[in-house]
Amino acid sequence: MDPQIKTEPFPKSGRGFVSFVGGGPGSVDLLTVRGLDRIQKAEVILYDALLDSSYLEIFPDHAICLYVGKRSGQHSRTQEEINSLLTEYALSDKRVVRLKGGDPSIFGRLAEELEALKKSNIPFEIIPGISSVTAGAAALETSLTLRGISRQVIILDGHTILEDEKSWSGMENFQGTIAILMGTGKIKELAEKLIDKGISPNTPMALVENISGKNEIFSITTLDEAKTKGIQKISTGPGILYVGEAIRIRPNQKSSEQITTVIR
Ligand SMILES: C[S@@+](CC[C@H](N)C(=O)[O-])C[C@H]1O[C@@H](n2cnc3c(N)ncnc32)[C@H](O)[C@@H]1O
Repeated sequence: MDPQIKTEPFPKSGRGFVSFVGGGPGSVDLLTVRGLDRIQKAEVILYDALLDSSYLEIFPDHAICLYVGKRSGQHSRTQEEINSLLTEYALSDKRVVRLKGGDPSIFGRLAEELEALKKSNIPFEIIPGISSVTAGAAALETSLTLRGISRQVIILDGHTILEDEKSWSGMENFQGTIAILMGTGKIKELAEKLIDKGISPNTPMALVENISGKNEIFSITTLDEAKTKGIQKISTGPGILYVGEAIRIRPNQKSSEQITTVIR
């Protein structure tokens, strides 16, 4: 059986048009069907850092493909340059795909790029993707929300949140799951801050690396341990930190060699 899913046609003509495509967490088969459709029809693709190089294989031969990614302070282009490229290609009547990791609405600088397009009246669409935030829960084989235990989920920018005291207000009453992106370089400081703000030191903290990729791996410890010892990053790929009781309650544990420390 070859199931054919009909995708939504381009709004308007699709020319001089930008499709923001959420590329999913890393593995190319987690891309959406509509996202794939837009990539296959693209004349220009501006893409971020890709966990899986097989994305390059689905880029059409006729398309101009430019890497514009930013990883760990290594920026191939400034945000202003990316905004200009998007605008210039769209104004020259091209079908442009702006391929972003995960979902474009989560720490993806989507607002700035939309603003640039709006200034030039360039039509666009946004195609959501699977965020690494939820894909990480699948890697941990847990649920970010749990009846009676975790009624809330928050997503923090681990890179800058330590400098913004206001963002921590109310944390003492938080009962749920915290996902921290871009925070693997500050694990001890983030754990210390969470304890200072009233989260129990015994709360589990997990680091999940290369979510959905070939080298997916995770480590689990407690906030207290993370505060003193950190959590060793095993790969050079991206990682997300999760904090909360939801991590303790994992029905199926993965094989022990994938886990550095497990608390139960
Ligand atoms: C700029 S944010 C973009 C997030 C993206 N928009 C999303 O929805 O997943 C980049 C951060 O997301 C996390 N991340 C993205 N992909 C990941 C992956 N495959 N494995 C682990 N963490 C990932 C890391 O914390 C990384 O520093």
